[in-house]
Amino acid sequence: MQDIEYERYEKIGNWDFSDIKYTVEQDSNWDFYKEISKYSKPNSLILDLGTGGGEKTLEKMPDARMIIATDFSPKMIETANINKKNYPNKNIKFVTMNNLKMTFPNNLFDIVTARHTAIDAAQIYNCLSDNGVLIVEGVDKYDCWGLKKLFNRGQGFNDSISISQKDYNDIKDAGFSEIDMQEIIQYEYYKTEDDLLALLFKTPILDDFSELHISNNIHRDRIEKELFNKYVAEHSTDKGIELKRILYGIVAKK
Ligand SMILES: C[S@@+](CC[C@H](N)C(=O)[O-])C[C@H]1O[C@@H](n2cnc3c(N)ncnc32)[C@H](O)[C@@H]1O
Repeated sequence: MQDIEYERYEKIGNWDFSDIKYTVEQDSNWDFYKEISKYSKPNSLILDLGTGGGEKTLEKMPDARMIIATDFSPKMIETANINKKNYPNKNIKFVTMNNLKMTFPNNLFDIVTARHTAIDAAQIYNCLSDNGVLIVEGVDKYDCWGLKKLFNRGQGFNDSISISQKDYNDIKDAGFSEIDMQEIIQYEYYKTEDDLLALLFKTPILDDFSELHISNNIHRDRIEKELFNKYVAEHSTDKGIELKRILYGIVAKK
């Protein structure tokens, strides 16, 4: 499963959605970067896991003593180092590393952040300093559920336990003392069908990597047009084509 994900991200090479036209209406107060700002101090040492092309980390992470941002895709790290040139004052270093095989010393970071990426809670616990904080935002099983139900597949579609619950359990088992989990609901409105298609081609929303693995590693980069048209017809509004996102946010203290 991780091999397929690795190949996919290497091929994409960035996590930039600025070409896609859509608006967002928040239905929850929890915000990943506001949570990070709450805990970050000017002398904090921050680790950002699965940073992609560093797009969001460069733009939104608060200033700190140093941010180490990692990704297992060398292509993503190459993009991140190019993007970094637009932020000459940011104290940030991009490093290629697998989140599931981290090689940092114990008790190093004040804050570890992970947005929409794979994590290993026990490894994070070890590299956090005493009183360190882990902040996670993830995409849950019921994210884009209307779309997934129509296509009868998608990220986490067949999971017996939701992704948020699995993360919560792993974080608890790793030994974190205080764990707060919040559901995040937001409505996205895509301006045109092409904007929504561009999102679906780039993200794994309609892919189920384990399902793909079973079906001989065939990438399902096809969106069945009839089903897509049905979704568009049923979800078109004055604001655009609606996509209901269900994410989760976790703040856990060591
Ligand atoms: C959905 S993107 C999110 C990027 C960024 N965090 C953001 O929110 O914009 C997921 C990123 O996690 C990386 N990733 C997935 N599994 C990983 C792993 N085991 N170790 C390191 N990076 C991983 C991918 O290469 C990709 O860049």
